[in-house]
Amino acid sequence: MDLGLTGKIAFVTGASKGIGRAVAEQLASEGADIVITARTAGPLAQVASDIAARTGRTIVALAGDMSKAEDVDRCVKETLGRFGHIDILVTCAGSSPGGLLEELTEEHWLSSLNLKFMGYVRSVRAVIPHMRERGEGAIVLVVGNDGLKPSYWEMTAGVANAADINFASSVAEQYGRYGVRINTVNPGPVNTDRWDGLEKAFARDKKVDQVRAHELAISSIPLNRICEPQEVASLVTFLVSPRAYFINGAHIPIDGAQRKALMDV
Ligand SMILES: NC(=O)c1ccc[n+]([C@@H]2O[C@H](COP(=O)([O-])OP(=O)(O)OC[C@H]3O[C@@H](n4cnc5c(N)ncnc54)[C@H](OP(=O)(O)O)[C@@H]3O)[C@@H](O)[C@H]2O)c1
Repeated sequence: MDLGLTGKIAFVTGASKGIGRAVAEQLASEGADIVITARTAGPLAQVASDIAARTGRTIVALAGDMSKAEDVDRCVKETLGRFGHIDILVTCAGSSPGGLLEELTEEHWLSSLNLKFMGYVRSVRAVIPHMRERGEGAIVLVVGNDGLKPSYWEMTAGVANAADINFASSVAEQYGRYGVRINTVNPGPVNTDRWDGLEKAFARDKKVDQVRAHELAISSIPLNRICEPQEVASLVTFLVSPRAYFINGAHIPIDGAQRKALMDV
């Protein structure tokens, strides 16, 4: 199936590894030119040159911290200066600490909300006027199934994710009339560094080793394994394509029907 993405310009946040990197790789394979962001310049530049070499597309690395409004605005401005427009926004720069309520500090809550919620708001806010003016645009927020399936050990993520989902519904309602679509993709455990870190923290809090923590994650997923970043990227790539034009304001789980309560020990 031709997804109709050749020549599109995409802006992907949090793309030096994990889900964001997989999204950038798939979008480039489908013919898009891409700006990727992350805080650490070295690995980001390496990923950009790897994807460009493999796909022949233009991949631009812009280092920036998506928890800072000025960095988000600068990166979007530089993208518009370079390419003239942005067709696609995918937000993946997010991170929220796991932990039990008594142990989560003010800083844990605020840093989660500042990046996972406000970082996504800032990114959408920065591209919307431009997409609205052009009368087209496709946005996917990579959020997380904690926003749909609360879990007491993943409260900071769950709260930020629920806010992202609510925000995206509002944006879909307001900007659909201008040809701008927005959807959220909500993974459960995905095989990335972030998941590895969460598993270690879960093992610590639950006083089990990481092998047991991983077994518990798998036992909560009827498909009997965790998700791969490329599987999330395939869904995102479809959603931002013209093939998915009538999908707007949707919140799509990609978690193998995970039943979170089964992770409990
Ligand atoms: N993996 C999972 O199991 C899972 C499940 C549900 C939802 N999610 C969500 O999916 C998204 C991607 O997760 P992932 O597992 O792919 O994470 P990951 O492998 O840890 O990659 C995170 C990426 O974001 C960048 N990043 C982190 N903080 C940033 C910041 N302040 N500004 C700009 N870039 C930043 C990182 O590079 P730098 O460190 O250099 O900035 C890296 O490129 C996140 O929003 C996460 O919450 C993940």
